[in-house]
Amino acid sequence: MKQNLLDGKALSTRMRAAMRDEVAALSRRHGRAPGLAVILVGDDPASQIYVRNKANGCRDLGIHSISHPLPSDTSQQHLLGLIGELNQDPKVDGILVQLPVPEQIDAEAIIEAIDPGKDVDGFHPYNVGRLTSRIPALRPCTPYGCMKLIAQTGVDLHGKEAVIVGASNIVGRPMAMELLLAGATVTITHRFTEDLAAHVARADLVVAAAGKPGLVKGEWIKPGAIVIDVGINRLPDGSLAGDVEFATASKRAGWITPVPGGVGPMTITMLLANTITAFRNRIGETD
Ligand code: GUN
Repeated sequence: MKQNLLDGKALSTRMRAAMRDEVAALSRRHGRAPGLAVILVGDDPASQIYVRNKANGCRDLGIHSISHPLPSDTSQQHLLGLIGELNQDPKVDGILVQLPVPEQIDAEAIIEAIDPGKDVDGFHPYNVGRLTSRIPALRPCTPYGCMKLIAQTGVDLHGKEAVIVGASNIVGRPMAMELLLAGATVTITHRFTEDLAAHVARADLVVAAAGKPGLVKGEWIKPGAIVIDVGINRLPDGSLAGDVEFATASKRAGWITPVPGGVGPMTITMLLANTITAFRNRIGETD
């Protein structure tokens, strides 16, 4: 493996091994395992794979996972009813509604209906507000996983120029708040940004999360920069590619995540970590 590669698979495996022991100890002490309820509305094949991987991740750690597959014509009212029940269920510590949801469902209203203490995605405005106010509670999984990968470099982010490509609620925006909290000077670029190349070229740290294969050119990367590629794009030939041109970028970067095997495995690992945190908070054990 190349020396400057940030290996998310290896970090994930190490973190999950530690969490497996933690779940076993918590289950012994409290007579039950942490529980995660996963709701999938409809039959989108990519979402089905993500949800299956989340359930497998739970099983592997000894977390109790409860699947709620719902038909694609599920009403908003029905979904709200299920969330209400899960909010009240003492065995459920985490609730996740896989996104995107079908168009008859208002995703924002669904996210707001989840008990913030069980919002293991960290998408509820309460948890978004906590992170923005520098008092993070449950943190969005992908940015949280990116921060764990960045920590592997040993680079102190105070005063560093960080440029994020993409301003989504799931990655770009919470990533900006994480990096600000870590002391970086943060720029969020997006579809209306003029001269993306100039922004990327001055970045000590680039986080690419636009969902556009090869958007960030290798020649833009500042020599020695940390490059975190959140993009997972399926190419016409069936292969996976990130948002960054890997071959050229990896020659200039100080550190870079591969796709696959970089950020991807970390997202589910942080979901599992959040489920354990939610369990601990609910049970009143926060050490
Ligand atoms: N869809 C794409 N990423 C995510 C995620 O992190 N959580 C949920 N719930 N849905 C997603």
